[in-house]
Amino acid sequence: MIKGKKISFSAIQPSGNITLGNYMGALRRWPTFQGDYDCIYCVVDEHAITVRQNPADLRHHSLELFAQLIACGIDPERSILFIQSFVPAHAELAWVLNCFTMFGELNRMTQFKEKSLSHADNINAGLFTYPTLMAADILLYQADVVPVGEDQRQHVELCRDIAIRFNGVYGDVFTVPEAEIPKTAGRVMSLQEPEKKMSKSSDNENSYILVMDSPDVIMRKFKRAVTDSQAEVRYDPEQKPGVSNLMDIYAGATGLSMEEIRRQFEGKGYGEFKTAVGEATVELLRPVRENTLRLMADKGELERLMKTGAEKAAAVSSYTMNKVRKKVGFLPR
Ligand code: TYM
Repeated sequence: MIKGKKISFSAIQPSGNITLGNYMGALRRWPTFQGDYDCIYCVVDEHAITVRQNPADLRHHSLELFAQLIACGIDPERSILFIQSFVPAHAELAWVLNCFTMFGELNRMTQFKEKSLSHADNINAGLFTYPTLMAADILLYQADVVPVGEDQRQHVELCRDIAIRFNGVYGDVFTVPEAEIPKTAGRVMSLQEPEKKMSKSSDNENSYILVMDSPDVIMRKFKRAVTDSQAEVRYDPEQKPGVSNLMDIYAGATGLSMEEIRRQFEGKGYGEFKTAVGEATVELLRPVRENTLRLMADKGELERLMKTGAEKAAAVSSYTMNKVRKKVGFLPR
């Protein structure tokens, strides 16, 4: 695989059920790279343990997420799809990259600051060095593009800085990757507090839509979404964050422009608008939900795919890891 076509790499944490934000910001776009790119996608269970996980839940979420990625359209025969902890090179390269990453750089990461606040009783070193493991994920596969939501832009920037620094010392070892962030719905916001991003770790389940939510639940959550008192469907994220977020979701689900949406709902109330957003989202997520349920019924097949995916990932990553070992001065094994 290294290096015929350009490479697309991305990853997602199995730290709970995935949301509409994950789907719109990242997952739905991953399959679209198949064809023009060699694609490598990963379920990052090692990242997930930076916050405490129940082991049985983590196993379940990792397996379900693996199935969901296939349900979203990733073809495990054509792309490499695997579980991070199956490939030890990730942790191995992360250690080396830790030695090329500055304390000050990690200390500036917004996600670290946010997670330190929300997990004040467990600000562990893994939470702090999380971005170097993420850089290892990307650099191991010589990725050219990294399709992610807006919230991961800073981490990909840091990955680039680390790659450039390492290459500066040892010559061209790593491809310097670019983040690929969508124009609409790159940052889906909470339905209850639209100034915050939609996140599965919120305490209020009305604030997020899960990919596995049933149609009734999706419709109910949209009906309860926070808007404003103006009764006007107009895009203005500063003044009208709730309505603008719903417009973003509707645009992401239907492909309509903001102007087309404004015209469609001119003179109509928020009730009608919310129903339309709910229905479009139900249809968007329906195939993913149904395919996931079907795939989860055959665990043996999922286990087989996890094994072959990890074998392919290990083969590709060993190329980079051997080069790194040699460059930094480790003796040959
Ligand atoms: P994670 O697991 O939090 O999210 C997975 C993907 O979903 C996107 N996303 C969103 N997009 C739009 N709106 C939202 N509300 C929203 N919430 C999440 C994220 O931007 C991401 O693309 N650190 C990463 C996982 C990771 C990774 C990597 C990604 C580990 N190694 C290497 C790319 C390359 C994370 O926590 O994503």
